[in-house]
Amino acid sequence: MIYPIVKFGNPVLEKAAEPVTVFDAELQKLVEDMFESMYQAHGVGLAAPQIGISKRLAVIDITFKEDPEAKLVLANPEIIHTEGKHTQPEGCLSIPEFREPVARAKKVTIRAQDVNGKWFERTGEDLLARAFLHETDHLSGKLYISHISALKRDLMKRKIRKLVKAGEW
Ligand code: NI
Repeated sequence: MIYPIVKFGNPVLEKAAEPVTVFDAELQKLVEDMFESMYQAHGVGLAAPQIGISKRLAVIDITFKEDPEAKLVLANPEIIHTEGKHTQPEGCLSIPEFREPVARAKKVTIRAQDVNGKWFERTGEDLLARAFLHETDHLSGKLYISHISALKRDLMKRKIRKLVKAGEW
């Protein structure tokens, strides 16, 4: 099932999500649906709050279907180490059509549970490191625009308000 992506302005995006506690067939199905919804939206990462489900769960595939091994499920992820700094334009499926440069750690180690509840650690660099940080932020109710200047953020919010008024958001 393909879920519609929740857009900026919906309060579910700005509240802390609840931990995943049950690793069953239902969760398996939700994860499959999240991958499907992410690919449909042309994204490389998707957090459960972005489909209106306030759970600490995210999926990532920075290869966009190229490498099945690259598909990652992060349940209850925690950032355990960061290193370096890297600035790249960043976007979010919940804030479509906008992109802004964001400084993030270049190398990030994450600890998370997989779809079966098994804990694992994974280190990513560049885009994968960015995805770890971006998706984990989502689960704390934090959006990438919290990492840009207040000036840029206000400008973006003004543009979004106009789009909302025009019925285009
Ligand atoms: Ni996002």
